Amino acid sequence: MAEEVDVVVVGSCMTDLVSQTPRLPKAGETIHGHKFFIGFGGKGANQCVQAAHLGAKTAMVCKVGKDFFGSSYIQNFKDNSICTAFVTQTAEAMTGAASIIVNDAGENAIVIVAGANMLLGEEELEQARSVLTKAKVLLCQLEVNSHISLQALRMARQYNVKTIFNPAPAIPDLHPDFYKESDVFCCNESEAELLTGARVASADDAGSAGLELLNRGCAAVIITLGSQGCVVLQTSNPNPKHIPTAKVTPVDTTGAGDSFLGALAFYMAHYPSLPLEEMSRRANLVAAVSVQSVGTQTSYPFKKDLAEELFLKE
Ligand SMILES: Nc1ncnc2c1ncn2[C@@H]1O[C@H](COP(=O)(O)OP(=O)(O)OP(=O)(O)O)[C@@H](O)[C@H]1O
Ligand SMILES: *[C@@H]1O[C@H](CO)[C@@H](O)[C@H](O)[C@H]1NC(C)=O
Repeated sequence: MAEEVDVVVVGSCMTDLVSQTPRLPKAGETIHGHKFFIGFGGKGANQCVQAAHLGAKTAMVCKVGKDFFGSSYIQNFKDNSICTAFVTQTAEAMTGAASIIVNDAGENAIVIVAGANMLLGEEELEQARSVLTKAKVLLCQLEVNSHISLQALRMARQYNVKTIFNPAPAIPDLHPDFYKESDVFCCNESEAELLTGARVASADDAGSAGLELLNRGCAAVIITLGSQGCVVLQTSNPNPKHIPTAKVTPVDTTGAGDSFLGALAFYMAHYPSLPLEEMSRRANLVAAVSVQSVGTQTSYPFKKDLAEELFLKE
């Protein structure tokens, strides 16, 4: 089974507990909301689900609690055809949770408790060694212990597995080896800003910030720019290339970045000889579909929902 994996994700799972209310409550106040729902989130899991929806054979390496949310998350992975052989349940912490309150004006207040995600450790990476060293692509973020993300990138790189690193949420003192271990270093504008200290408000700014990140040792850099698409730079072609996306009317952009990353991982695994700019163009178009419906994983398109041109070999 391990040999068959295209995309392996080492990362987070979070249960989103969402209440919709007329306004945000004040300290000590109890208010009534009009709707409650539970969603599956966490950057690692989101990215894995998008890659799986496009047809990649995927495996998730993560930790959830020995609780109702953990068990239902495992079922969610199975429902999305994601291999759960490396998903472990711990009694030491609850499944990661994001308690979200959204008011009618669309403003929100969010509390994230990473819980079991922070207990993903070296032991679990060792158990997953077979996939980490044989997959085509490894995808990591920063919602688990950063030391574990870096360790996963190193393991994969040693075996020529292509690595995509998404420094999200960004931390100011990122270990310099994260750049060196990334075949593709992919972040959004605010993350690029935090990492470089330079303001990123346009495609031109993103080009300059991207060059700075590239010089820190990554093989390629992608900075996503929301409705403006993305900017791509490679050591083989350091001239920043702006790649616009489709003009659409967004309904809910939550998780758009994760849709882009999952799609990118799918393309790197399935069409490795496509130029990175073409993969990014296609990932833009997949993410542009995701912003046109509500929800996070539920908004991620499947192969059957997308234009055939997105699945051509060249
Ligand atoms: N309004 C939009 N119209 C079309 N495409 C969009 C829009 N917003 C996002 N996208 C697509 O999604 C990709 C990622 O978006 P963005 O740069 O906003 O990531 P992000 O900030 O990490 O997203 P989020 O935090 O909302 O998950 C963009 O590169 C683009 O391809
Ligand atoms: C970038 O992603 C972070 C999550 O890592 C998010 O909080 C932030 O709002 C995003 N920035 C932009 C400009 O979309």
